[in-house]
Amino acid sequence: METPPLKILIVEDDIAHSTAIRRALKTSDNKYDIEIVDSLQGFHEHAAQQSPDVAIMDLNLPDGRAVEVLTSPAEDGLFPILLMTSYGNEQVAVEAIKAGALDYIVKSPEAFALMAGTLERALREWKLLLDKKNVEKQLRESQAQVIQQEKMASIGFLAAGVAHEINNPIGYITSNLNSLRKYTDKLISFIESQEQAIQKCADQATRSAIADLKQQISLDYLIADLHEMISETMEGSRRVSKIVQELQSFARADGNEAVCCNLTEVIRNTASIVSNELKYVAELVLQLSDLPPVLCRPQQIGQVVMNLLINAAHSVNGNGLITLATAQIGDSVEISVADNGCGIPSEYLGKIFEPFFTTKDIGKGTGLGLAISFDIVKRHGGDLLVQSTVGVGTTFTIRLPIDPENSFSHLKDL
Ligand SMILES: Nc1ncnc2c1ncn2[C@@H]1O[C@H](COP(=O)(O)OP(=O)(O)O)[C@@H](O)[C@H]1O
Ligand SMILES: [Mg+2]
Repeated sequence: METPPLKILIVEDDIAHSTAIRRALKTSDNKYDIEIVDSLQGFHEHAAQQSPDVAIMDLNLPDGRAVEVLTSPAEDGLFPILLMTSYGNEQVAVEAIKAGALDYIVKSPEAFALMAGTLERALREWKLLLDKKNVEKQLRESQAQVIQQEKMASIGFLAAGVAHEINNPIGYITSNLNSLRKYTDKLISFIESQEQAIQKCADQATRSAIADLKQQISLDYLIADLHEMISETMEGSRRVSKIVQELQSFARADGNEAVCCNLTEVIRNTASIVSNELKYVAELVLQLSDLPPVLCRPQQIGQVVMNLLINAAHSVNGNGLITLATAQIGDSVEISVADNGCGIPSEYLGKIFEPFFTTKDIGKGTGLGLAISFDIVKRHGGDLLVQSTVGVGTTFTIRLPIDPENSFSHLKDL
């Protein structure tokens, strides 16, 4: 394939100089596509429309100095700039390089004649800089990923301990609360019977003493409030139990086995379990393709799909449409849950997989669903991806490797 010509922008107000450069860069095979402008304004207009591969700029231009437009290779989508100075301006040129110019040339007929070599060298250097920048970016990303995994692992470890510690007391708190409610009902009905007996049998003085006492301790209020307090406390302990359950599954307490399974069946079952909860807020559409058997922990994958479906249901506000779809893409299967709900603001996208991050009201969200899901999918050697537009909707995609050899090596480490 023929390489397209290199687009060079010369920014020079001295026509003699720009012509000399153009002449020096003229080749028989039209290797260079040269444009000349004579001002900073010309530079801006041309750069915006044509995006040159490289610019050669005079340091001093009629409407400003080239240093004003210098960019550094740290920024994406930019092109390198070579500065030209007159003799005696080298100090300024050195400053300009510090500010981001790739190189500088002291103007002379010899320098113009060597321009092609200077350009090639500068572009090689630019490419090295970009490569270095990419490697650094990849390194930062993988560091962030390792930190995230470490964080998840230590939270998982802590969660296991905390869940275990809370499980026992919350067990007897719940059971005692049930007894407390029953006993309270019995005591209250006993008090009511006594009350009736007193009304019937006691003398006037005793009746009014009892009535005073009853008022003094606000008995009616106490009885009403007692019921409410017990209900609230039971609701509180139910919430704590739910968190403990979720923490335990986060801490991989359940040891269900990896098997080669039909994911379509797992997904259908999960959808049918959740559909009762969904049907009041959204229509659930299934678009299931034929999938090859996948080695996985079906219960865990079911749990991830369930978390995503419930989140989708929470995100919609009337007229909800949730699409649960599957597809085989190359060596992976993808399960996606798309909703037409509120969407996720971009500043939250980096946080939603963190344990305990929730935007929901107390009692409705624990902030563990996506953290658990992320962990499960990662331990299957897969990925959990999200795409969201505020006001339009969100799609979560579970991507799992099919290759049993590979999957198995991931699952073995659990
Ligand atoms: N489908 C979705 N649409 C909009 N926001 C979502 C969706 N799924 C998750 N989120 C956001 O991510 C947060 C974390 O989700 P999750 O970990 O499941 O915890 P929880 O559901 O308990 O809040 C939610 O509180 C919500 O802000
Ligand atoms: Mg959730």
